[in-house]
Amino acid sequence: MILITGATGNVGSELVARLATDGVPVRAMTRTPEKTDFPSGVDVVAGDFDKPETLPAALDGIDRVFVVPPGYGPEGPVQERTLVAAARAAGVQHLVKLSTSGVTHDATDPLSSGHRHGEQVVQESGLAWTILRPGTFMVYLYSYAHTIRTERTMYVTEGDPVSAMIHPRDIASVAATVLTTPGHEGRTYTLTGGEALSPRRQGEIVGAALGEEVQVIERTQAETQAEFDRLGWGGPRLEALLELKRQSAAWDWKLSDSVEELTGSAPLTLRDWVDENIHLFG
Ligand SMILES: NC(=O)c1ccc[n+]([C@@H]2O[C@H](COP(=O)([O-])OP(=O)(O)OC[C@H]3O[C@@H](n4cnc5c(N)ncnc54)[C@H](OP(=O)(O)O)[C@@H]3O)[C@@H](O)[C@H]2O)c1
Repeated sequence: MILITGATGNVGSELVARLATDGVPVRAMTRTPEKTDFPSGVDVVAGDFDKPETLPAALDGIDRVFVVPPGYGPEGPVQERTLVAAARAAGVQHLVKLSTSGVTHDATDPLSSGHRHGEQVVQESGLAWTILRPGTFMVYLYSYAHTIRTERTMYVTEGDPVSAMIHPRDIASVAATVLTTPGHEGRTYTLTGGEALSPRRQGEIVGAALGEEVQVIERTQAETQAEFDRLGWGGPRLEALLELKRQSAAWDWKLSDSVEELTGSAPLTLRDWVDENIHLFG
């Protein structure tokens, strides 16, 4: 049986659904099973990386694990270490870790650094491993949903990257392939969507789906910061995300063929993602 951590998240939820549809025995881990609604046939288990005592039950009878670390603080990849220790004790054979393309491109922001160290923990676990390094998820457009809905406007920041953004379902499709077919042990795959899109082009695609123009207005870094301050946002996680975004302008536009090579299908497009989520922008 395969354990999916992060099973309620962007990639994990798609992966659980995909494996269930394919008839693969799958267990979904979440901290709050009572709040979830997984497809029938999915074994749901309570588990928390920060509560090691919950992991033996989650890992009982499991041979492969999809490892989704929710985040990194200054303490480093503690959650990977906890998971690896429990997985070894449970006799797990293969770990597939969700990482980030920042590692491929030697980024030094806190999120990429956390993933780099988390990858090392998985690679030194003594178990078979595979690393998936996706770039920006299309769900990033959630951050523009409010102003697109209320003003038909996307406020972007000068220097925002041209991005080969990826649909989370494509990452899940790759993960399903890696978890259910041989030959991926010891491999690292960088994953992107099929086209590099500027913020202006992203706005055009949302506008085309809505049938109305969406204005794209560029703000300076200082104006964006002032807006975050006004909204009461801030803190280390936002800072880490902004630093990743600044650095990623150097590579986020680069395309990888891995999705098509591993799944046999061209990557889903941003228009596909927007059409599925049009209620957020309508
Ligand atoms: N978003 C992007 O553009 C992007 C790009 C590249 C890489 N990534 C990486 O992809 C991973 C997922 O990011 P995401 O933004 O898509 O988040 P997500 O997977 O949608 O949400 C986080 C998941 O982590 C679980 N979780 C939170 N705390 C936990 C804990 N203590 N123990 C066990 N599970 C816990 C949550 O499950 P419950 O609340 O149900 O417990 C939830 O399913 C991250 O490692 C991120 O760095 C993201």
